[in-house]
Amino acid sequence: MIVIGSNSDVATAFVEKVLKEGKRFPLVYLFTSNVEKTAKLAQHIFAKYEQECEIVDFDLTKENDYSRLNHIDSELLFCAAGYLGKNSEEGLYDDWNTKQIVEINYSKLIVLINHFAKKFEAKGSGSIIGLSSVAGERGRQSNFIYGSAKAGFTAYLAGLRNYLFHKKVHVMTVIPGFMDTQMTADIETPKPLTAQPDQAADIIYKAYLKKRNVVYVTFVWWGIMMIIRNVPEFIFKKMKM
Ligand SMILES: NC(=O)c1ccc[n+]([C@@H]2O[C@H](COP(=O)([O-])OP(=O)(O)OC[C@H]3O[C@@H](n4cnc5c(N)ncnc54)[C@H](OP(=O)(O)O)[C@@H]3O)[C@@H](O)[C@H]2O)c1
Repeated sequence: MIVIGSNSDVATAFVEKVLKEGKRFPLVYLFTSNVEKTAKLAQHIFAKYEQECEIVDFDLTKENDYSRLNHIDSELLFCAAGYLGKNSEEGLYDDWNTKQIVEINYSKLIVLINHFAKKFEAKGSGSIIGLSSVAGERGRQSNFIYGSAKAGFTAYLAGLRNYLFHKKVHVMTVIPGFMDTQMTADIETPKPLTAQPDQAADIIYKAYLKKRNVVYVTFVWWGIMMIIRNVPEFIFKKMKM
């Protein structure tokens, strides 16, 4: 299994869910920008499930040598990498912040996923699961850089799904609303609309088994976004969202 964004609470919960269900892999490749923290995760996974992991030091914002990834292959890729960045008034116009958000959520991320998509295509099997966001469903004033990067990522996954369907590879887009993770630690999110990482992992796992195309976390967000997507633009632009 290949995990991108290993320290995400949702990624950790998903890896544990898969292992709890009894699945084992020759290796779980833990891609991370924080090797120290991931080493503890790898130890935990080995102690609890006797599953060996390989840690791959891979900061998406840096120049990366792809030849060192040649030995890595799997039947399942789970991508939870993401970066909310600063969505304050000055953050939205900050060059460095903009670049980081776009690289981590989209431009550098799809280069990495493409690297493995090619291998999945050659084998003619496997599943690629990518976590996008409801933020990518409609541009909003409060996070239009992050939202636009996620919109790009959602479109990438949809196109990849269409392309790899003909090569027998499953691609699933996960669209979370709020999840109670490190990303939202400083944000007060409404409890009924906020999924716990274990709950998110369960929903994603079930959808993966059913080879779903798109899954919302949680389902209520499907309804919310259906409404938000359909508000006429001349009204929407006046709203403060
Ligand atoms: N939490 C929410 O409410 C929410 C809502 C909608 C969508 N999402 C999306 O769901 C996914 C999981 O999010 P989360 O809530 O678990 O957030 P998170 O805790 O911030 O996890 C995101 C992970 O991305 C990885 N990452 C960050 N910067 C990176 C970099 N420069 N290079 C490589 N990896 C980097 C980190 O993993 P390492 O430390 O291992 O590098 C980090 O743990 C993300 O794509 C996020 O955008 C979250």
